[in-house]
Amino acid sequence: MTSTFKLKFKNIVKSYIKPILSPRVYSKMHAIYHYKNKINKRKMIQQLQKDFINHPHISINKSERQVLLKQLDVINDNVECPHTLDQILAYITHILCLPSDTRGVVVEAGCFKGGSSSKFSLAADHMNRTFLIFDSFQGIPNNEEAHDVNIFGGSVGFVKGDYSGSLNEVRDNITQFGKVDCCEFVPGWFDDTLPHFNKAIDCIYLDVDLVSSTKTCLKYLYPLLRPGGSLFSQDGHLPLVLELLDNDQFWEDEIGCTKPQMIGLGNNKLVQIIKANIE
Ligand SMILES: C[S@@+](CC[C@H](N)C(=O)[O-])C[C@H]1O[C@@H](n2cnc3c(N)ncnc32)[C@H](O)[C@@H]1O
Repeated sequence: MTSTFKLKFKNIVKSYIKPILSPRVYSKMHAIYHYKNKINKRKMIQQLQKDFINHPHISINKSERQVLLKQLDVINDNVECPHTLDQILAYITHILCLPSDTRGVVVEAGCFKGGSSSKFSLAADHMNRTFLIFDSFQGIPNNEEAHDVNIFGGSVGFVKGDYSGSLNEVRDNITQFGKVDCCEFVPGWFDDTLPHFNKAIDCIYLDVDLVSSTKTCLKYLYPLLRPGGSLFSQDGHLPLVLELLDNDQFWEDEIGCTKPQMIGLGNNKLVQIIKANIE
């Protein structure tokens, strides 16, 4: 069962079953459901960790991988982290598998308190890469985007100042829990900072919530991405973002290429966009 279907099914069950059960029976069913969910979640995490440890191409050894997984846990315990292990490990694995003959920078746009940045900095440091972090450091900009429900049926909406983390907070968290020496911070609204950026990029991670922010990031960062490189968007659950990513006209008119291959579009929060080798 896909997670989208599971969530829709859960919502239907909730709205039809809840009214016909006594509160006592419903709360028992609810508790069992959550217990089962917890067990499944733990199994999923263990599987993700196992896959990471046994990955055939990651360029650090198994004990270094174990240490890195522990460091991720420490970050979760100390920094507010609005992401999941599968999302983080997808990008970390990608960084740790970067080809040795490219020297482009590793990019993250959208860092909040620096939880994801601390995690990604550990991988960038292992690979001796510069890690660039773009953010306003004052949260989501003012906007009138009509986000309503995500593809899993949950409600969404973003108002000015949501997910705000100051530059000092982010830098302190990375200093304490990640590797700050490989990091460069680019504070400001994407519309102001990205047009001036022109370094070769090896991989990109976007977690920026708004379709307008995603558009700006794609417009200015994607052309700098190496052929064969990947851009990950953690906003694939948002219909407005999905619409943009799936829009042939957008890719042709604004980016100047045909719509690239994408993995996870429409069924996963994390979408991987793979730049063709020859444009
Ligand atoms: C959901 S948070 C990122 C969460 C982070 N990746 C994590 O997992 O901890 C979204 C971030 O995008 C940033 N952001 C969104 N639109 C922006 C824009 N137009 N310019 C600069 N920053 C922006 C916000 O400041 C916020 O830090």
